[in-house]
Amino acid sequence: MSVTHALAADDSGLDVLLRQDPELAEILLAERRRQSTTLQLIAAENFTSPAVLAALGSPLANKYAEGYPGARHHGGCEIADVAERLAVERARDLFGAEHANVQSHSGSSAVLAAYAALLRPGDTVLALGLPYGGHLTHGSPANFSGRWFDFVGYGVDAETGLVDHDQVRTLARARRPKAIVCGSIAYPRHPDYAFFRDVADEAGAYLIADAAHPMGLVAGGAAPSPVPYADIVCATTHKVLRGPRGGMILCGSELAERVDRAVFPFTQGGAQMHTIAAKAVAFGEARTPAFAAYARQVVANARTLAAHLAAEGFVVTTGGTDTHLITVDPAPLGVDGRTARGLLAAAGIVLDCCALPHADARGLRLGTAAVTTQGMGEREMRTVATLLAGVLRGATDPAAARAAARDLAAEFPPYPG
Ligand SMILES: Cc1ncc(COP(=O)(O)O)c(C=O)c1O
Repeated sequence: MSVTHALAADDSGLDVLLRQDPELAEILLAERRRQSTTLQLIAAENFTSPAVLAALGSPLANKYAEGYPGARHHGGCEIADVAERLAVERARDLFGAEHANVQSHSGSSAVLAAYAALLRPGDTVLALGLPYGGHLTHGSPANFSGRWFDFVGYGVDAETGLVDHDQVRTLARARRPKAIVCGSIAYPRHPDYAFFRDVADEAGAYLIADAAHPMGLVAGGAAPSPVPYADIVCATTHKVLRGPRGGMILCGSELAERVDRAVFPFTQGGAQMHTIAAKAVAFGEARTPAFAAYARQVVANARTLAAHLAAEGFVVTTGGTDTHLITVDPAPLGVDGRTARGLLAAAGIVLDCCALPHADARGLRLGTAAVTTQGMGEREMRTVATLLAGVLRGATDPAAARAAARDLAAEFPPYPG
């Protein structure tokens, strides 16, 4: 079964822009060229379907709709209400949740709303520390989370790179947090949700799963679901889930009203109805057998890529991956992560730096969601690993590497036609 979109080019929107505002149209075309002539290995990115893009560019972009279906602060919301109800219903069905809120503008605002629903300023929260892959919203001093709450960070085992469960339990017993957060921007393994539930119950804490990264794998049946375990699940809709940029929150019915009020009116104003419509499209796509095949292929590709990177000399954190995401230390190839990212960008290979557990140097974070949407498989992952290693060792000339990346991308265009 094909894991790619049934893509068809639809340039009608760009045609209008080319006539009316060629300056901006050229910028958009340049970005499309960039995306289709380089390799996108940023773990948080993907290529949405033309149907998702169509919903984003639809007249619902014009509609103001503060509030919730049936209880809006604006007139003329009867169609918007139907769209939001459909998105909510699809999200609940897809993830087996009693309640879904699909209004969060981003993953960060979903996390903010989850905290607002459950916590008071000053409350203690236990989360994966930022040096080990915690997100900004998990206690960074530069973010509302670190400023308004008392975050305590747990870490990962120095040998295995796996979450240190003993430390989590010890910290929970000692600090009695009001909430425990599991989820990360750079952890390549599945959190043990049953373990976190048990620790939270013992400490009398809420459990918040920030599943921004793996929620698409959950939708496709390729990762365990946090829904049966967490009080609140936060997610983005734009990573493996392949929807529009945005967030969502899932919870049981007992927290539904608190979550809804935490999103609107506490942290947001008007819902972005075009994005909510696009979320509905993505949820609809994610319940198909083709999406399940896609999710499985994303993980198979990541495992293969991790194995070939290890064979090329990269140190792969935790020794591999269960997800779409891999983190590696390129030091054995003679470069640190920051230098490596620059060299690879020059060669047309786009990825991120990340913190490496228990190390000062930066590593590299890669993901297979986008390249898998393009239709690449395990054979291509081997080519990608060889290309990366060649560039970083200085064995492959940057111009030759760029041509190889361009050729591979051309073989698997994200939007054929
Ligand atoms: C674990 C986690 N939480 C929250 C977010 C925030 O999402 P956004 O960038 O949409 O605010 C991210 C984004 O990468 C994430 O990985």
